[in-house]
Amino acid sequence: MSPRDVINRAAMQPNADIATEDSLDGLRHALGVWRKIGETIALVPTMGALHGGHLALVEEARRRCQRVVVSIFVNPAQFGSYDDLAGYPREAAKDRQMLGELGVDLIYAPPIAEIYPDGFATEIKVGGLSDGLCAVQRPVHFTGVATVVAKLLIQCRPHVALFGEKDFQQLLIIRRLVRDLDLEVDIIGVPTVRESGGLAMSSRNAALSPAGRGIAGRLYSTLIEVGGRISAGEAVDDTLAWGRHALIAQGFEAVDYLELRHAETLASLRQHANPARLLVAVHLDGVRLIDNIALE
Ligand code: PAJ
Repeated sequence: MSPRDVINRAAMQPNADIATEDSLDGLRHALGVWRKIGETIALVPTMGALHGGHLALVEEARRRCQRVVVSIFVNPAQFGSYDDLAGYPREAAKDRQMLGELGVDLIYAPPIAEIYPDGFATEIKVGGLSDGLCAVQRPVHFTGVATVVAKLLIQCRPHVALFGEKDFQQLLIIRRLVRDLDLEVDIIGVPTVRESGGLAMSSRNAALSPAGRGIAGRLYSTLIEVGGRISAGEAVDDTLAWGRHALIAQGFEAVDYLELRHAETLASLRQHANPARLLVAVHLDGVRLIDNIALE
């Protein structure tokens, strides 16, 4: 490796010893300095246990803004049970290393009391979009998400905030929240990052057995097939029913939903209309997997 290569590589992998703030005061101070000199700020909210999907959000954030802040906060309010919260993967050291290598400017990792201080009593519920699909199995989930995201956006006041299309219902809820509350931030949706077999990357994939990983890859190919048939004019209800049976036959333990929805309102579609989104949630090895695709 020539000296030039070493310098280039070092420039691509800045010092992994990245600044971390856990207090709101510290966060405001750091952001205030950047804002004063006119720098643009992007926020990437996460719950940690980072993978390639999160990193795509960070890379897009770097393309759009001069400063990138990643928040890592495992939000108790969006978990349905204590066991689910306690079992959520936590990999702080690895996360720091990955974000340092990507040149993130600041990690905001607040303790619970910084987000939900004693006596915290406010909830944000985005009506309509928070009903149905993932909310059927997880009724409090999206109120927890909307409340914490509103709080993070107000605390950081970024110019841009980035969210994955993998969590499509969440993305639409956040867009609606920002519009309804006049928050001055651009919400950017980033396409789903997949493993080589097609499985959407997720912190929960690590809990799949080797056999389960084989089955899980078929979720995406089934979505593509169902989407293709509907686009080709096959009846929506029949094709969705076929898709649900196909998923069970492939080895998925249960199908929470496989539905065709309007891509902006999430209204149910009995016929193909534009823009449409095909969304699915299944269970495998005790893990709940979700995915979605746009329809041509
Ligand atoms: P988390 O599951 O950590 O995801 C953080 C962000 O990464 C979300 O915007 C999610 O949609 C995105 N993401 C996850 N997997 C992805 C993939 N395979 N491709 C592209 N993007 C992906 O989603 C949450 O945390 C929380 O609900 C949060 C928004 C942080 C609020 O607590």
